[in-house]
Amino acid sequence: MNLPKGPTGHPLLQLLEWVNNTLGYMESASQNYGDMFTAYLGSKKDPTVYVSNPQAIQQIFNGESKEFTNPGNQLFKPVLGQYALGTLTGEIHKRHRQLIMPCLHGSHLEIYAKIICDTIEQVFEQLKPGQTFSTHEITETIAGEVILKVVFGDDQGKNLQQINHLTSSVLDFFAKNSLASSLLFLPFLRQDLGKWSPWGYVRHLVRQIDTFIYTAIAERRQNFDPQRTDLLNMLMAARDEAGEPLSDQELRDEIIMLIFGGKDAVASAMAWSAYWVHHLPEVQEKLKQELESFGSQENLIQITRLPYLTAVCQEILRISPVEIQGQPRVVASPVELMGYQLPVGTVLIPSIYLIHQRPDLYPEPQQFQPERFLNKKFPYYEYLPFGGGSRRCIGSAFAQLSLKLFLIVIISRFKLKLASDESIHPVLRGLNLIPHNGVPMTFLGQSMMDSNNCLSLETV
Ligand code: HEM
Repeated sequence: MNLPKGPTGHPLLQLLEWVNNTLGYMESASQNYGDMFTAYLGSKKDPTVYVSNPQAIQQIFNGESKEFTNPGNQLFKPVLGQYALGTLTGEIHKRHRQLIMPCLHGSHLEIYAKIICDTIEQVFEQLKPGQTFSTHEITETIAGEVILKVVFGDDQGKNLQQINHLTSSVLDFFAKNSLASSLLFLPFLRQDLGKWSPWGYVRHLVRQIDTFIYTAIAERRQNFDPQRTDLLNMLMAARDEAGEPLSDQELRDEIIMLIFGGKDAVASAMAWSAYWVHHLPEVQEKLKQELESFGSQENLIQITRLPYLTAVCQEILRISPVEIQGQPRVVASPVELMGYQLPVGTVLIPSIYLIHQRPDLYPEPQQFQPERFLNKKFPYYEYLPFGGGSRRCIGSAFAQLSLKLFLIVIISRFKLKLASDESIHPVLRGLNLIPHNGVPMTFLGQSMMDSNNCLSLETV
């Protein structure tokens, strides 16, 4: 066994430090031991190798299904179910990806673009001039409503707000309470003793979401309307290579995975974007100029291809990567990685956070510089906010569209300012990097820019 060196503290102390100060632990380990280090988080028997070396990441992503396997996130199986993409492996994982992928790409994005813009406007229009609000709370509402409308259609009325509230409650339960997360780790704690017991509470919330999903599936099975353009309809109509559709349980598990996956990360990315463009007025000014130069005859998807807007969004996901690491990959046959002979079973984690902070790839990595993306196209193993290989985020195109439209709408339709000069640092909620104070902002009213022709939402 020839694992890279790493922190030498007792495994329990390492785990404690990792839980309480994940970014600090990772930064100090990479400074001391380089771009591959071994962490013992809780037990000397279970080493985890963190990787932030681009060539190693390239080898891992290219070697999937040969030297490396990707066991998926089994931790969340009790909530997401056995058929959710993130928990599936092997052939069935491939089959589900092939069925879901088309629903989140291509011409469907044009339909989603309108939903995204309308929802952002509706939520911001409820604010009163002078009102101070938590940007992260607002973006959680927006991202949650958007993914629910995309999945079920935007004709669900109050039901959507109720389901959005239930999904927030589940995410909050695990994110705000590290003890609660241990329920997932320790099966004997997963006892449903009624809704006042911790696991019973989670089950109570998930049961209500399940009822909504299964009712929607049953209604459509009875009365299928091929004209509907929502994702549930598309998934129900999808057939694999053998001509087989997804079963009800497969549909439920995939829908719940997309709802949870699509909400948390997008909400954080949107909150970060609001922070960066208001913290750096020169960036906002350049964005405005680019938008103003755009003709009214173009549709929303074309606007989102603007180069500076694209570079700003890339830089947001580099400096504040939302998901700090990819899913674990496991050595499946003895392999040499950067000179280390890794035995079968070694767990490897691509560290998105550390690779995005490498000064050799990103000079002055702490500085927000969108220009670095205008001047260079980074390969998939140097810039990986959405991970890579066979588990690369299936919602990446939709997420980038959401982020870009969010920026376009807030800077062209509304006047906002940061409510305080306090500098904002990242904190982890689960493995999700969020702004520590939620980015308090003040709503100043509608912007003059909406009289300009840069945004003609009707053109979609
Ligand atoms: C800014 C927003 C987002 C970020 C930064 C993000 C990031 C990630 C990352 C890092 C992974 C793991 C990839 C790997 O291990 O190689 C992942 C997986 C996944 N994401 Fe996202 N994501 C975002 C938005 C979304 C959205 C909007 C959806 C759904 C609509 C989604 C659904 C998923 C799913 C289902 C997986 C599991 C894929 C699989 O196991 O095959 N994500 N995402």
